Amino acid sequence: MTGADGAATVRHFLRDDDIDPAEQTSVLDLAAAMKADRHGHRPLAGPQTVAVLFDKPTLRTQLSFSVGIAELGGHPMVLDSRLANIGVRESIADTARVLGRQAAAVVWRTYGQERIDEMAAHAGVPVVNALTDSFHPCQVLADLLTVREHRGHLAGRTLTYLGDGANNMAQSYLLGGASAGMHVRIGSPAAYTPDVQVLADARRIAAATGGSVVVTDDPAAACEQADVLATDTWVSMGQESEAADRAAPFVAFALDETAVARATDDVLVLHCLPAYRGSEVATAVIDGPHSVVWDEAENRLHAQKGLLAWLLEQNGDPT
Ligand code: CP
Repeated sequence: MTGADGAATVRHFLRDDDIDPAEQTSVLDLAAAMKADRHGHRPLAGPQTVAVLFDKPTLRTQLSFSVGIAELGGHPMVLDSRLANIGVRESIADTARVLGRQAAAVVWRTYGQERIDEMAAHAGVPVVNALTDSFHPCQVLADLLTVREHRGHLAGRTLTYLGDGANNMAQSYLLGGASAGMHVRIGSPAAYTPDVQVLADARRIAAATGGSVVVTDDPAAACEQADVLATDTWVSMGQESEAADRAAPFVAFALDETAVARATDDVLVLHCLPAYRGSEVATAVIDGPHSVVWDEAENRLHAQKGLLAWLLEQNGDPT
């Protein structure tokens, strides 16, 4: 693909709607095929190197990208971002130019969305958002794969997220869930609602896919007959100084036995982890019969393998 100036247009995954609904299905199909034949797909054979950088803590994301890149035949180069100190020691643009000359793709967990946008503008290779303050699109791909495995299809299912409606998981559920044709409900305190532009984008996508989007400060209404209940920590990375102030407003939005009782009888419970039992999720719920959180954690691996292979294919590397 080429842009208006004739230069090659590189596809990235910086937010959930960087892939359209049909492309999302293709990525999930590829992920499912790779899960079924775990070592049968090697688009990174060579090995090609993927640069993986973290400006914030991680367990699952570092593990799943490292394992996944290796299983795709590549070399995961996890760089110590404290040493690179991107944007301080060196500009994001110059860092991107260096990474793109040696790596087949760049995976980055960082703070502001504008930082990863800047990386993508200058890398010349696919850039993947491994979590920013605004979005966590790889996690939502894994979540969609998990729901699809357990329920067969996504379109028409109701997915309710309880908690901080302004955080990256809520915003990615809005865009990714709407793309999948789901009915996405965000149950959050009135002071913690999604960005208005993200909400507008999700509503536009839902109008085309047959999904819908609701934001409510009524947790009971949010959970009513939901097919999927999801939550996340009330204190996202970088908000630690606000922890004391952030507890009370969210208590009514805990994913507890009451929330589960309001949902469908076979509701699936998701949590991206790490979980704080007794806060955003009850122990009896996350460790109970509706919980699919360990499938969800494993599916980070398969979803990201599918995504990386798909991006490389879009950018000219045959899988
Ligand atoms: N869910 C998730 O992204 O986990 P980590 O923060 O441990 O990578």
